[in-house]
Amino acid sequence: MYFKFIVPNVICPFAMDVVEDKKGNEKAETKEAKEAIEGCESKEEKQGTKSLSKKKEESKKSQLPWVEAYRPKLLVDVVGNEECIERLRGFLVNDHLPNLLLCGPPGTGKTTAMTCLARELLGSAFTEATLELNASDERNVETVRKRITTFAGKKISLPSGKYKLVILDEADSMTKTAQQALRRVMETFKSTTKFAFACNHPSKIIEAIHSRCTTLRFARLSDIQVLKRIRTVLDLEKVSEWMPDGLTSLVHMSEGDLRVALNTMQATYAGTGMINAENVYTVADQPHPNILHKIIDHCEKGHFKLAVHELKPFLEQGYASVDLIEALFGMVKDGTTMDQALQLHFIREIGLDHRRVINGLGVSSIQIIGMVTLSFFCFMFPDDSCKSFFSVG
Ligand SMILES: Nc1ncnc2c1ncn2[C@@H]1O[C@H](COP(=O)(O)OP(=O)(O)OP(=O)(O)O)[C@@H](O)[C@H]1O
Ligand SMILES: [Mg+2]
Repeated sequence: MYFKFIVPNVICPFAMDVVEDKKGNEKAETKEAKEAIEGCESKEEKQGTKSLSKKKEESKKSQLPWVEAYRPKLLVDVVGNEECIERLRGFLVNDHLPNLLLCGPPGTGKTTAMTCLARELLGSAFTEATLELNASDERNVETVRKRITTFAGKKISLPSGKYKLVILDEADSMTKTAQQALRRVMETFKSTTKFAFACNHPSKIIEAIHSRCTTLRFARLSDIQVLKRIRTVLDLEKVSEWMPDGLTSLVHMSEGDLRVALNTMQATYAGTGMINAENVYTVADQPHPNILHKIIDHCEKGHFKLAVHELKPFLEQGYASVDLIEALFGMVKDGTTMDQALQLHFIREIGLDHRRVINGLGVSSIQIIGMVTLSFFCFMFPDDSCKSFFSVG
């Protein structure tokens, strides 16, 4: 995963295109990359930008976090998961809204899509005809009985084909009993009130609710979608203090979570004034993939001392050993072209170390990382002669 950004023109062509765009040297090669570079070219994006620009002024005034300032208000502005968004729009057009269960990883637009849907469905009646409950609200059986039942029973005159909407965000954190209690409410008020659930773990939602809902599965956003969105926000905020490697790092680090990308970008800009790779990794407190790659490269070649030399700064800067181990794991798993047997060996050793650390092994970072490094080195020298170089434990 890390490697695709280290060799961007091979595996991640858009990243290179953006680099070229910044320098103004070469033209973008792919349509998608062009769109990302030039801002938003597609119809949806244009519309999105239009409605976003209106809010730009407001956001500056109110100093909202960018995630909130640029949270889409209309379904057309929601990035990615086109199939799910298309289905939601279909429900609106056909005036047939089922109960909904939106599930998927964080920061992919589930809550956003639900509120956009409610706004488009209800128009001016949005505030009055929507009840939104999330994990910060009490959502035990009592709440379900009182708040939800009271809302569902409330008389609001809506045009035909429109329904009151109960939005239950982070529904996977509701107790099973509270979920059970909802079954009855959903049945009783089905002609006037619809329910929209959002969750990260659909397995934590009881069968009875699954069977009463149409499920829409949101996937992580693609790199190009995250990149396009963060470019749009930068343009709207008129931020020009960014470097292509900074945006690439944000895309890489966010792993398809737009909330992470936007928050890290804002924190980097606010904290350092320049969005480049180094600042992004510093602000996010993540080890830089280029250095991790060097460490693995040294291990692979048996340059044990050089690997430790590269490790030292991380340890001195106080990175958590778990973070380092996880980052090394990601790098070995997706970011190298090493021999498969060696790769499996590395992964096994990292996995074992990870388990020891998670289990609370009371040793320092250097020992943990030393063990990982040693395991790499020992693979190169199976006669154990390497162990005299480095003492662990
Ligand atoms: N698909 C998207 N299109 C546009 N903006 C998005 C999208 N997904 C996330 N965002 C941005 O990230 C923020 C968080 O998104 P949202 O709350 O919808 O995520 P979520 O999927 O509900 O995450 P969680 O599972 O953690 O609740 C939004 O305010 C918005 O700025
Ligand atoms: Mg949410």
